[in-house]
Amino acid sequence: MKLTEIVHAKLAESLQAGDLAIDATAGNGHDTCFLAGKVGADGRVIAIDIQEAALAATGQRLEATGFADRVELLLGDHAQELNALVQTKAGLAAAVVFNLGYLPGGDKSIKTAADQTRLALSSARDLLRSGGMLCVTAYRGHPGGPEEAAAVDAWMRSRADASDCVEHHVPETSNRPPILWLLKKGLSAF
Ligand SMILES: C[S@@+](CC[C@H](N)C(=O)[O-])C[C@H]1O[C@@H](n2cnc3c(N)ncnc32)[C@H](O)[C@@H]1O
Repeated sequence: MKLTEIVHAKLAESLQAGDLAIDATAGNGHDTCFLAGKVGADGRVIAIDIQEAALAATGQRLEATGFADRVELLLGDHAQELNALVQTKAGLAAAVVFNLGYLPGGDKSIKTAADQTRLALSSARDLLRSGGMLCVTAYRGHPGGPEEAAAVDAWMRSRADASDCVEHHVPETSNRPPILWLLKKGLSAF
């Protein structure tokens, strides 16, 4: 199974109609559309990206699937936007998804980075309800990618030592493969 397939399978198990879900790195909108399909017409998705090109691509995909009216697009840095959302939506999200790195087919210099991602993860956890799921995929094949993956790993280990259930997946297919972490808020197992 590809990592994206694992992410979607786990989200499909945990998301219910009417839920709030957050895509912290909307990119081309694949994950945003998946979330929008799962939360249904009564649910809500908030999708964040730092570049207009990504939100335009996500918006087009949402229009094509008929899900645009249940998704709010936010242009900005995920750490800042998630921190702001904590003021009004702490403990309300069923899932937060991060697919780190750069926009496929876009400007590779605009990419997530360890320091902001670490801050964003803490706010994302604050946004989750008990039992909510945090999915983070990190890529190690580009400059800064290994450092960012190491920062995510350290953060996930600290959460596993505290009060959350964490598992990770690494495909055996390539040199420096991507890593997927799944965190469930609270101590109940997956
Ligand atoms: C790998 S892509 C995401 C793919 C997306 N999940 C999808 O389904 O198509 C990573 C995205 O992160 C965005 N990004 C980079 N730095 C960011 C930041 N600081 N805050 C929010 N988004 C950021 C990039 O613009 C890019 O669109």
